[in-house]
Amino acid sequence: MLETNRLIIRKITLDDAYDVYEYAKNKKVGKDAGFKPHESVDETISIIETILKRSTYSIVLKEINKVIGTITLQQKLDDIYELGYSLGEEYWNKGIMTEAVKALVKYAFTELNAYEVDAGCFIDNIRSEKVLIKSGFKFMGIHEKDFLNYDNKYKDSKRYRLLKSDYMEG
Ligand SMILES: CC(C)(COP(=O)(O)OP(=O)(O)OC[C@H]1O[C@@H](n2cnc3c(N)ncnc32)[C@H](O)[C@@H]1OP(=O)(O)O)[C@@H](O)C(=O)NCCC(=O)NCCS
Repeated sequence: MLETNRLIIRKITLDDAYDVYEYAKNKKVGKDAGFKPHESVDETISIIETILKRSTYSIVLKEINKVIGTITLQQKLDDIYELGYSLGEEYWNKGIMTEAVKALVKYAFTELNAYEVDAGCFIDNIRSEKVLIKSGFKFMGIHEKDFLNYDNKYKDSKRYRLLKSDYMEG
């Protein structure tokens, strides 16, 4: 479990399903993150069980003790990790995801001994890009048609990464 000023970040559980469903049913969240809006709490339960359980953390806003988003840190290769995240729309633009990303990146480098953390976003997802830049990630280029969206179309993405050596210096 990680704690920041406003947040608790801990492994996702099935008890989080209702809170996750509440924001993941919003078309705007899924559209930017590349997932199909959840259609029922049962669907959210099944997504937690099959996809999220392994490497996803729930973001709890301490003030209201509610899950308002999720953040994933997935091991890609030995010491290389991939970051992904989404947040309920009513909590956007308050610096919350930057706070969560900074905490998880610190955990990756200091506890998991990661060499590098990678992340990507659709090329028009300015909010997500700003989170990465504010958290110290460097732009690595555009990868054409490398992300299979839920509508079965490949979309371009902007790739970012943060190296442990840069993190420790910065
Ligand atoms: C992307 C997302 C996680 C960002 O979380 P957040 O908590 O709102 O992020 P922050 O508040 O830390 O930073 C957002 C930044 O975008 C800026 N921003 C928001 N709308 C913007 C716009 N239209 N144009 C330019 N900048 C914009 C904010 O001002 C803020 O930057 P600042 O701190 O320099 O002012 C959240 O918007 C989200 O969940 N979106 C839907 C799912 C998604 O896109 N997931 C990421 C997939 S890669």
